[in-house]
Amino acid sequence: MQCMMKEVCAQCLQKHVDPVTGEETIIFSCFNQDQEMDRVDFPNLAARLRQNTVQEKLVEPVVRSPDARAVMAAHLRAVA
Ligand code: FES
Repeated sequence: MQCMMKEVCAQCLQKHVDPVTGEETIIFSCFNQDQEMDRVDFPNLAARLRQNTVQEKLVEPVVRSPDARAVMAAHLRAVA
């Protein structure tokens, strides 16, 4: 799960393929966490996860910086 808001960010999109008809469907895996394994397109899942890895590696130093922590702490104090 990426955004934890269900069907908002679309980073969790998952392709399913019906094993009988071959019909392809796209689902939000954050909203549909119990998926039938024979419908999951695992090569597609692996490709999507590799894409997310790039974003995660680029954002992590920013998120972990002292400035980001100070901004987050101030935001949390403001909304509390
Ligand atoms: S995790 Fe954001 S829409 Fe699914």
